[in-house]
Amino acid sequence: MSSPYLERILKARVYDVAIESPLELAPRLSRRLGNTVLFKREDLQPVFSFKLRGAYNRIAHLSATVAARGVICASAGNHAQGVALAAKRRGIPAVIVMPQTTPQIKVQAVRDLGGEVVLSGDDYDHAYDHALEVARARSLTFIHPFDDPDVIAGQGTIGMEILRQRAGDEIDAIFIPIGGGGLAAGVAAYVKSLFPKIRIIGVEPEDAAGMYESLKAGKRVSLERVGIFADGVAVRRVGEETFKLCQQYVDEILLVTSDELCAGIQDIFEDNRTVVEPAGALAVAGIKKYIAREGCTGRTFISINCGANMNFDRLRYVAERAQLGAQREALVAVEIPEQKGSFLRFCEVLGKRSVTEFNYRHAGESAARIFVGVGLSEGRKEREALVRTLTEAGYPVVDMTDNEMAKLHVRYMVGGHSHGLEHERLFRFEFPERPGALLKFLHAIGTTWNITLFHYRNQGSDYGRVLAGVQVPPQENEEFTQHLKELKYVFTEETANPVYRLFLGS
Ligand SMILES: Cc1ncc(COP(=O)(O)O)c(C=O)c1O
Repeated sequence: MSSPYLERILKARVYDVAIESPLELAPRLSRRLGNTVLFKREDLQPVFSFKLRGAYNRIAHLSATVAARGVICASAGNHAQGVALAAKRRGIPAVIVMPQTTPQIKVQAVRDLGGEVVLSGDDYDHAYDHALEVARARSLTFIHPFDDPDVIAGQGTIGMEILRQRAGDEIDAIFIPIGGGGLAAGVAAYVKSLFPKIRIIGVEPEDAAGMYESLKAGKRVSLERVGIFADGVAVRRVGEETFKLCQQYVDEILLVTSDELCAGIQDIFEDNRTVVEPAGALAVAGIKKYIAREGCTGRTFISINCGANMNFDRLRYVAERAQLGAQREALVAVEIPEQKGSFLRFCEVLGKRSVTEFNYRHAGESAARIFVGVGLSEGRKEREALVRTLTEAGYPVVDMTDNEMAKLHVRYMVGGHSHGLEHERLFRFEFPERPGALLKFLHAIGTTWNITLFHYRNQGSDYGRVLAGVQVPPQENEEFTQHLKELKYVFTEETANPVYRLFLGS
C-alpha cells in the first residue's frame, strides 16, 4: 500500500513554523472509556491549529522568484492564520481574502501576522472566487486550504510524528477530523503505507458530512447546506485529490452531532484544561461513538485535537449543550395538579436526583405544566428509568431531551402573563447550591401558599437563583413576610419591578 506521499511527507518542511506537538495520554477519558486514549495536541501549535503545516510546506516549495511575488488564500479561519504566519516566516507578502461578515477579531489576527486583508462577498464561496481573480490579476500564488499535494503532505507530518511517538503496532485506530480532507488524506496515506492494520477513522459533523456523502456516492458531491458550528470543517465540497486518498486509505467515517461535540470539548477540558474549538473535539466525539458501538476495551486510540480557535462567546452555548450531548441531563415536560403542595410532592418523587432546571407558570387550568431538567450520571438508561418513575407516580410526561425546539427556544419561553390571577407577589431567592438544595428550599417555603411561577436554572454557580411567584391573600401578607424572614434565605421582593408588570403579571 506504499504511497508516493510517503516520500513527500518525509521531505515536507514544516518545522520552521510548526512544533512537533506532544502525544499525551488522556487519563480521565481513558479510565472512563476503558481504553487508552491519546491526544495529538495540535491545539498547541502557533496560531492554535495544524493548518500552518500544510500552508508552510506549500510556500516553502515555491521557487524564490514565484514566492517573491506573494501568495493569496481565501479563508476566515485557521487556514488564513496559517498562510499569514507561513508567508511571514518566508518573508513574502500574503493576501488573505475574507468574507465581509468575518468577525473583527479574526481580521485583526491576520493583520497582526502581517497579512493584507481583503474583505469580499458575504460567504466563503464569494471570497474564494474573488481570491482566484486577484491571484490572476496580481500574479500571486493561490494556496489551497486542502486540495494540494504539498498541503496534504504538510498535514501528513502529523502521521509521521504519531508513529515516532508511539509504536505503530500498539495503535488500534487514529481518529481524524475531516473538512476538505487534507488532514485525513495526509495522515492516512502515511500511516497506512507503514501500518495498514491501524484503522483510520474520519469524523465529520452530521450537518457537514461532505466526505461521508462523497464516499457513499463513489464520487465527490456538493452539499446544499453545511452546518457551521464546527466552522473549521464547514466545507461544501471535499477536494479531488483528498477524496481519492480518503477513498483509498480511510476505513470509515463517523458522524457526530453538535451536542456530542460540546460534550467532547468538555471531555478534553477535563483532561488537560484546554478549551478546543468544535472541530477540535470531532475526534474525541468519534472515539466515544466508536467505543459505544464496538463495546471494545483495552485498545489504544489516538484523537487528533486539531484546533483551539474558539470564539469566547460560544462557550456559553457549549457548556449548555455539553450536558445533553453526554447524556448527563434529561429534559422533560410534566403535568402536575394545580394545587397547593403539588410542586413539593413532585420534587419528592424526583428524590435525590439533581434538578438542573425548573420552569413553571400558572395558567389558570386544573393541571400545571412544568419544564424540568434532571442531572443524569448513567446516561440514557437512567433517563428511561426517570420517565418510568414519573409515569408510575401518575404524572403525564413528555421526554424532550432530543427535542431541538424545546432545547433552543421553549425552555426560555415558559411563562408569560397569567390571566385572572389575584394577589401574586414575586420574589428572587438565593441559596447555596448543593445536592438537594432545591428540595430543601421548597420544603422551607411550605405548602400554605400557592406557588404560581417558578424559574430555576442550575448554571454551575455557587448560588442557586430562583424567581418565584406566590399567591398571598392580602390579610396574610404580614404572616407570609414573617415566614420568609424566618427561612433565612436571601430574598428580594420584585412585585414592583416594571419587568414583572410588562411580561409576567396578570
Ligand atoms: C481546526 C480544524 N480542524 C479540521 C480542519 C479540517 O481540515 P481539512 O480541510 O484538511 O480536512 C480544519 C480546516 O481548516 C481546521 O481548521
